[in-house]
Amino acid sequence: MSNRKISRRQAITTATAGSLGTMALSPFSFIHLKNTVKPALLGGEKVRTTAWPQWPVWDESAEQQIIEMLRSGRWWRGGGEYVAEFEKEYALLMGADRCLATASGTTALLVALHVLGVDAGDEVLVSPYTFIASYNVIFMNKALPVFVDTDPETFLIDPSKMEKRITDRTSAILPVHIYGLPADMDKINEVAQQHDLRVVEDACQAWLGEYKGKKLGTLGDLGCYSFQNSKNLPTGEGGAIVGNNPELMDRCYSFHNCGRPYGTVERTSDYPVRGSNRRMQQIQALMLLSQMKRIEKDADVRLENAMYLDSKLSEIPGIKTAKLVEGNNRSAYHMYPFRFISKEFGGVSRGKFLEALQAEGIPCSAGYGQQNKDGLIEEALNSKGYKRLFTQNRLNRWREENRLPGNDQLTREAVTLYQSMLLGSKSDMDDIVNAVAKLYENRESLT
Ligand SMILES: Cc1ncc(COP(=O)(O)O)c(C=O)c1O
Repeated sequence: MSNRKISRRQAITTATAGSLGTMALSPFSFIHLKNTVKPALLGGEKVRTTAWPQWPVWDESAEQQIIEMLRSGRWWRGGGEYVAEFEKEYALLMGADRCLATASGTTALLVALHVLGVDAGDEVLVSPYTFIASYNVIFMNKALPVFVDTDPETFLIDPSKMEKRITDRTSAILPVHIYGLPADMDKINEVAQQHDLRVVEDACQAWLGEYKGKKLGTLGDLGCYSFQNSKNLPTGEGGAIVGNNPELMDRCYSFHNCGRPYGTVERTSDYPVRGSNRRMQQIQALMLLSQMKRIEKDADVRLENAMYLDSKLSEIPGIKTAKLVEGNNRSAYHMYPFRFISKEFGGVSRGKFLEALQAEGIPCSAGYGQQNKDGLIEEALNSKGYKRLFTQNRLNRWREENRLPGNDQLTREAVTLYQSMLLGSKSDMDDIVNAVAKLYENRESLT
């Protein structure tokens, strides 16, 4: 693995130096004039007509080893060496003592919560601005996810809102580094320590992101990652847990391997503890070992381009780039997010903005919805098990407190661009900026 790294400060300096000359004249002097006449949505010429970088990218040099492994019939981790090899490499890359590979990010979270003692009837504080897996895994452990409001400026859990959601049942906090943006881990860990809570970082979108010099996923008790097909480190389906506590990691191994003894989980019988099968296969590990050859370089390119976009898009009224928490050394950018403030953009609705941006040849989406109102939540709360585990009073109070104004605001304002777009060139980033600026200049025609 190379040591090539760009600090956030370096990246900002590079981006600003590149754009200052044009910025000084006019905030929109970087627009290609030929394309500004009419939005493509209304029949004008598109800002961008060429393809964006594809994802995932396959490296053919990995094929010989994969074919040999397939021909050997040693497909599961018990039969071969590649899963263990990946675990060693990934722990090294993350700066963690240990890594356990799992079948997916969801299974990594399930294992982590179980070994940290999140049990039936417990409560877990969790970010609501996330993928469903972050709270589904809490339900799967028969605990109650308690959503803590999001700071819309950072897209992340607001640590100042955590304490008032803690009850005598709260056993853990599950912060999510959404889009690879580092959550404020010092404040989260401080609350955890004061209330004797465990911390599982959902770093499923945050490979190589850093907070105060440490990799995301290494700042709590355990950190979980996803390697699903769309992820910045992909293998179709796959996941991992990292941690520094050997006993905890032994328990993770044992649980993910049907409860068989492992390390400090002693052999009192063939299956001394409860367990499940959450194992990774050899082919997933081989693909990951190959994908890891590019991850650091890709992360540098994404970071540099994201900082360039931040510096330029923030010049356009109505576009608010994500505020980075103090201690953010680098974001991983699984998506590039920003907020769209309709009233500062001539009253154009976010839906129309997204449609118009897509028409300009810039793929984009609206980010997450109000996940705290998902149907699966009432389905769980009304289930036989939850009615046994929690009093009706507690469940009703949960419903009353499930009001998240910061998160609601973010779900109305967010716009996201795909990580693979950030692997493009500076001129590709200019296409994004030009398209947004063009829509601003033509805002009246879009209302
Ligand atoms: C924030 C977050 N948590 C958890 C997961 C679950 O990971 P997987 O899809 O590998 O099970 C994902 C995957 O999209 C995710 O984005």
